[in-house]
Amino acid sequence: MRKIPVDKVREGMTLARPVYGYDGNVLLNTGMMMKMSYINKLKELDIFELYIDDEISRDIIITDVISDETRFEARLSIKNAMESIRFGNTLDLKPIRNSVGKMIDELLQVKDAVVCLQDIKSKDQYTFFHSVNVCVLSVITGISMNYDQEKLKELAMGAMLHDIGKVSTPRHVLNKPGPLTNEEYSVIKEHAKAGYETLKKSRMLSTYTSYIALTHHERVDGTGYPLGLKGNDIHDFTKIVTIADVYDAMTSDRVYKKRCHISEAVEYLVGMGYHQFDYDMVRRFIEHVTIYPPGTCVNLNTGEKAIVVDVNKKYPNRPIVRIVADRDGQPVKQPAEVDLTRNNNILINEILDDI
Ligand SMILES: [Fe+2]
Repeated sequence: MRKIPVDKVREGMTLARPVYGYDGNVLLNTGMMMKMSYINKLKELDIFELYIDDEISRDIIITDVISDETRFEARLSIKNAMESIRFGNTLDLKPIRNSVGKMIDELLQVKDAVVCLQDIKSKDQYTFFHSVNVCVLSVITGISMNYDQEKLKELAMGAMLHDIGKVSTPRHVLNKPGPLTNEEYSVIKEHAKAGYETLKKSRMLSTYTSYIALTHHERVDGTGYPLGLKGNDIHDFTKIVTIADVYDAMTSDRVYKKRCHISEAVEYLVGMGYHQFDYDMVRRFIEHVTIYPPGTCVNLNTGEKAIVVDVNKKYPNRPIVRIVADRDGQPVKQPAEVDLTRNNNILINEILDDI
């Protein structure tokens, strides 16, 4: 399987992963053959990418670190929680707590979890999908810090609920396609305090969990908000969630900006690791994300085009690739696989949308 832009999808291609609608239900399921009407519908829903199976990618497997069922349940639990707050109902944390428990159990089973799969989400689904991603990435980092179950649960609940205050942010500000005015930015910033106020009312949550919602935009160098905390005044839980939050936001398409590639997000985090983020946490975090996930199409320095078939966990820049087009762009009859850890003279020059 590989991920391609919807613009490059042709009729008859086979869908390799489900596409979810706003309500969390499956819109198109794995194995469906694409039709022009589906492609147009997806564009209408602001879904710009799909996982497909085709000749060059059919045997490439991309596994998620948690099961589809758990991810689906977790998204639904956060969506329902946000909706119940929006309608003035009390926050029922039980479903979130249950799905967080399942996520932790599943992630503890994976040895050296590496996140390879990227979400396909529309702008309306952003907050739910994002909350689950931030939770998964935070728990993986927490596991690398040898946190026990109790600590992992507190961290995971805080990660899932970090943006809950966005319920009170007006949608036209949240989904504004252009740059924000100073006033609009101040409105957005209020979500941190709003989330904290909502969560601290719940006796079912630890202080640390609501504290994550309050402080997830603080930065180690004191440039964050709302409190302008610095260095070790920021709790480790917040430092972890902050990194996961920035990484997932940077690598997601938003209404106002196109996502950047994983390598750029990793570079940014490392570059900012001495200023805005905790360097040790960044180092731990980046060990668990794949720069070139399987299915990524690349240009090599030899002029050939290739597709990533597998990851070398120790050397994230040196995956195993399959050469599928020669330097003239012609398809290769018998594609050869090359392990870049064993061929130091072959380099990845750029990432391609498609081949
Ligand atoms: Fe936020």
